Amino acid sequence: MIELRDVWFSYGDREVLKGVNMRVRKGEIAILLGRNGAGKSTLLMHLNGLLKPKKGEVIVDGIRVGYDRKSLIKLRRAVGFVFQNPDDQIVAPTVWQDVVFGPENLGMRDDDRIKEILRNLGLERYESRLCNSLSGGEKKRVAIAGVLAMEPEFIIMDEPTAGVDGMGLKEILKIVKNLKESGKGILISTHDLDFAKTIGDRFMILEDGRIIYDGVFVDYSLAENCGIRTWLSEGEIVLVPHDSSIPETDDFDFIAVMGKSAREKLEREGIEPDINTAGMERAFLRAIGGARVMLVCSRSMIEVVKREAQAYPVKLTICDGVECHEGQSVHSWSRSGECGAHYTERTESN
Ligand SMILES: Nc1ncnc2c1ncn2[C@@H]1O[C@H](COP(=O)(O)OP(=O)(O)OP(=O)(O)O)[C@@H](O)[C@H]1O
Ligand SMILES: [Mg+2]
Repeated sequence: MIELRDVWFSYGDREVLKGVNMRVRKGEIAILLGRNGAGKSTLLMHLNGLLKPKKGEVIVDGIRVGYDRKSLIKLRRAVGFVFQNPDDQIVAPTVWQDVVFGPENLGMRDDDRIKEILRNLGLERYESRLCNSLSGGEKKRVAIAGVLAMEPEFIIMDEPTAGVDGMGLKEILKIVKNLKESGKGILISTHDLDFAKTIGDRFMILEDGRIIYDGVFVDYSLAENCGIRTWLSEGEIVLVPHDSSIPETDDFDFIAVMGKSAREKLEREGIEPDINTAGMERAFLRAIGGARVMLVCSRSMIEVVKREAQAYPVKLTICDGVECHEGQSVHSWSRSGECGAHYTERTESN
């Protein structure tokens, strides 16, 4: 496992990491998300000793990383780093020379294995090509090949899909999946939520120098609030617990109900729901399609809906404890738009 414990880092007086705690285990693909300039590259560069924390610890397989030459060589054999910009990584004139450079230096050159790596990355006919004549996507793959040739236990990839076309993306997906299957630990920073969702086992969001989200779902609303590109739909679910007052129904495209107490509540109010069965699932489907849906549920189901909402690209608003008076607005929106809140709660304002 690689681990950061309370890591702080600044460039001059510009503080970028403010107490980062995180872990990447062998056999998992962890994804690091965050807006431009959030500090993703800075964080990643701590994991193979390219940067040294001002405070805090980097731990690899239980051992605290040292910064003398010998420790750094050991660390870089264990943790490979694929740079955001391949030009920062490529050191030799031709593809073959570049990919054999690392293993040769460490006395572990194995030509058959290197050929296999190049083949897996769709670079088998590129061996004698000059690196500076390659396209951006091809360079990216050469940089990845160079890291894989060192056979590290952990692989850090900084934006591996940036500037890579569809074919290149497929190859990267394939290689990342194979790496995971072979038991490597992988940490990838990306803005590409499609790619992240396709391969990620765990997602972390870096914001204002800290990991503010770490979970197995992509939390769409939170990602959106943090400036990460999402395909969050225009739709919304307004969740109303059965013992709260019901908002004006004309404001909604659909009324959905789940649970006995919620059904009884609507009956008492003389409201006919549009969605009566599989209320939660259908409410999400409608909201993904762009509709505004009121979902009335028993209070005990709120947590279930909140959990479910993390997996869907829809906005969830909880309308709770509100007294709705005619002609008078008593609603206030708290925490909306703020990074760190993945749903909005409506509360009484007076
Ligand atoms: N060498 C440096 N000297 C001074 N400031 C730097 C340096 N490198 C990065 N920064 C600043 O530190 C902050 C974090 O940068 P970093 O590159 O880690 O962000 P990032 O999340 O990787 O961004 P991006 O998504 O654009 O790649 C930015 O404000 C950046 O301008
Ligand atoms: Mg970066």
